[in-house]
Amino acid sequence: MALRLGDEAPNFSAETTEGTIDFHSWLGDSWGVLFSHPADYTPVCTTELGTAAKLKDDFSRRNVKMIAISVDDLESHKGWINDINETQRTTMNFPIIADPDKTVATLYDMIHPNADDKMTVRSVFVIGSDKKIKLTITYPASTGRNFQELLRVVDSLQLTAKHKVATPANWKDGEDCIIVPAVTNDEIPGLFPKGHREIKPYLRYTPQPNK
Ligand code: BEZ
Repeated sequence: MALRLGDEAPNFSAETTEGTIDFHSWLGDSWGVLFSHPADYTPVCTTELGTAAKLKDDFSRRNVKMIAISVDDLESHKGWINDINETQRTTMNFPIIADPDKTVATLYDMIHPNADDKMTVRSVFVIGSDKKIKLTITYPASTGRNFQELLRVVDSLQLTAKHKVATPANWKDGEDCIIVPAVTNDEIPGLFPKGHREIKPYLRYTPQPNK
């Protein structure tokens, strides 16, 4: 069955380009981004891994570890990393899971047979420090992912985990947030001392509480 938001991210043991890992132990207290690649030595995936490697510090600052997966084997991954480093002018700096028998891909429902019965789609799972799935996005093989969007979502997830706010369309870190409907007007001064503006009784903005 497909994994849903709030489900525990299934644990697994796997070989990666940085050694064998137990996924939950590898995550430790960090958040995680697990993302799948249809195959090694493919052009879009090559750009994605290069882009993600360049953003590693941005993810680390948010206490997020990245890990990629492709259903090819470790030797293939190692050769591909040389190409990623060369063509994307970077150095791969996070693990790629080798999943030739598709154990992890199956566990995370990354193979969608009506799209392709052998390759994975481009799945993304954002996993909280509680090991729960916070976000899933599925892209087709032909569309490379936007890693800035993943950073933006992590900012929203980490903010809304701590404060009684939600983030509006196209929100970016530092912008005003929406006070969740469960908060009464009487509670607002105590929870949001920076103030608020009410557009409608159900649409109330406040400056980002943790800035
Ligand atoms: C790619 O990563 O470039 C790719 C993979 C599978 C199908 C199409 C593109």
